[in-house]
Order: sequence, then structure tokens, then C-alpha cells
Amino acid sequence: MMCGSTGLAVGCQAQFSCPKELFRTGASEEPQNDYRSPFRDWHERASVRKEPRRVLSPSDDRYLLFDADLVPTSSHILVQELPDPQRNEVLTQHLYRYLKFTTQLEQLVVNKTMLDIAYGRIGVDLPRGMVFDAHKIYCDEAYHALFSMDMYRQVIDATGVAPRIGSDPHFFRRLRRLLEDVDPSMRLLVELLFVFCSETLISGTLDSGRDQQVDPAVHEMVKDHAKDEGKHHAYFASFLFHLCPQIHTKYQESAAALIPDLIMTFLEPDRESLVSELCGYDLSQDEAEQVVAETFTRDVVRDIRAGDRASHTQILP
Ligand SMILES: [Fe+2]
Ligand SMILES: [Fe+2]
Repeated sequence: MMCGSTGLAVGCQAQFSCPKELFRTGASEEPQNDYRSPFRDWHERASVRKEPRRVLSPSDDRYLLFDADLVPTSSHILVQELPDPQRNEVLTQHLYRYLKFTTQLEQLVVNKTMLDIAYGRIGVDLPRGMVFDAHKIYCDEAYHALFSMDMYRQVIDATGVAPRIGSDPHFFRRLRRLLEDVDPSMRLLVELLFVFCSETLISGTLDSGRDQQVDPAVHEMVKDHAKDEGKHHAYFASFLFHLCPQIHTKYQESAAALIPDLIMTFLEPDRESLVSELCGYDLSQDEAEQVVAETFTRDVVRDIRAGDRASHTQILP
């Protein structure tokens, strides 16, 4: 016997992740009537519908692959003293890390939640238009993952530089640990809140810089992404408005307590991967750790927590 929602059945295997445990349906007032969709012109404006494929300028060495001002380690004296090809590679590796981060965030995390919303699996009452818009975000994110992986492959082909950034992005490992650590009944809520945090923070992190030397394809790709994410931000701000009153009272406090951790899960730099990359430029382990420690100081981490936009753009991914 099933309830139509995950797990409301005696002896159901899904009882530990049942949304009926987490949410009080009917707690939101008139959920059908108070949603103004940010996607009304989606068919005319979405990057997947109107923008061309972004193609790197073939063997044009006028261009760099990332604005050095947005790659924090590149301004450290020990990196500045490296030969030109290695200093350029720091920018290339940063682009690889950024593209892999984006691909995995969109496909493995955000789109899982968008499917849950689109199929009514989260157990929260939402306006019909908001449920339908989940399909549009799903489509946008799939395209962001595609153009990121496309660019990743183009850069490898154009430069011959092999990525040295590790397998899973830092946020992904941290999120997995967080999900293992919380009470199993909270996992769905943690996923929803993480996606809320990432979707409202990411629009502030998408900045390709003002450096005219950055390859136009990279610059345009980041702009395509930022334009879509502005709409996602508006969607998720509205989503939270519907979600919060429906979280069961007994979970509200622990949900609020998780937010700072979720924000840091998204924003914190991948120190381990950065040290390992720097060791590849013939810096010793101690020197590599020094660069990372002196670049990502406590002040920078404090600025991230305080919501300083300039720090966000520099920290990610
Ligand atoms: Fe995206
Ligand atoms: Fe998004």
C-alpha cells in the first residue's frame, strides 16, 4: 500500500526520507495565486534557446583563459615568480576547475532537485506555475553543464594542457559528508536548502572579469550562464517563501542552523586540490601550502560569510 508520496506506508523502505515527515502540506496560504513567473519570456530569452555555441579562438595567443584578477593564487609572489607558461597554466587549471564544478553542480545536484520539484516528490505545496517552471530550470541547467563540458574539452584540445584538478569538486565531497552526518529524515530538506543556497549565490559568482585579454568565448559563456541564473535566483527566492512555512516545527531550528554550513559548502575553496596543482609547478609542498594559506586567509573566509560579492567571485570554484 502506497500513499502517492514517498514512503507513507507501513514498513515502507523510504520511511526515513519521507517528505510527509518533514513538511506540513496545506500550511502555505493560497499557494496557487501568489507566484509571478520569472520565466514568462523563457522561449525568447533562455541561453539554450537563443545563444550560439561558444567556440575558442583557434590558437590565438593574444588571449588568456581566465582573468588573473579572479584567480586568487595567481597574485601570490611565489606564483608570480614562476615562468610565463606556468603562470598561464594557473589560469587554465582554474578554468578547468570552474567548468567541472559547474557541470557537476548542475547535473548531479541542482537537476536532481528540479526533477523532484517537477514530479511533486518533495512534499511541499507549490503553485502550479512554479512546478512547471522547474522543467525550464532543468533545461537551463542541463545546457549550462553541456556548454561547460564543451568548453572543458575545447580547452584541452587547444592547449594540450591536461587538467590537474582532482575528480570530484570540493563542494560535492562536503555535501556528501553533510548528508551522511545529518539524521536521515533531514536529507531531503538538506538537499533543498543546499540548492536554494547555491541558486541564490551563484548569480553573484558568475563574473568573467573585465580583462580584455580573456578569450571572448569564455567571456560570452559566463555571460550566457549569468543571464539565466538571474531568473533562477528570483525563482528560488520565491520557492523559499513557500517552503519555510511548510517545514514541520520540529525541523525548523535544525534547518536554520544548517544554512551557514551549506553556504560554506558551496563557497569554500578546494584547498587540497589547489595545493596539489601548485606542487605540479615545481613548488615544494610547504611552498604550495603557504600560497594557499596566505591567499585564503581568515579575513577572506569572513568576507565570504558576510556576503562580500568581490570575495565570492574570487573564491569560486
Ligand atoms: Fe546554471
Ligand atoms: Fe541555476
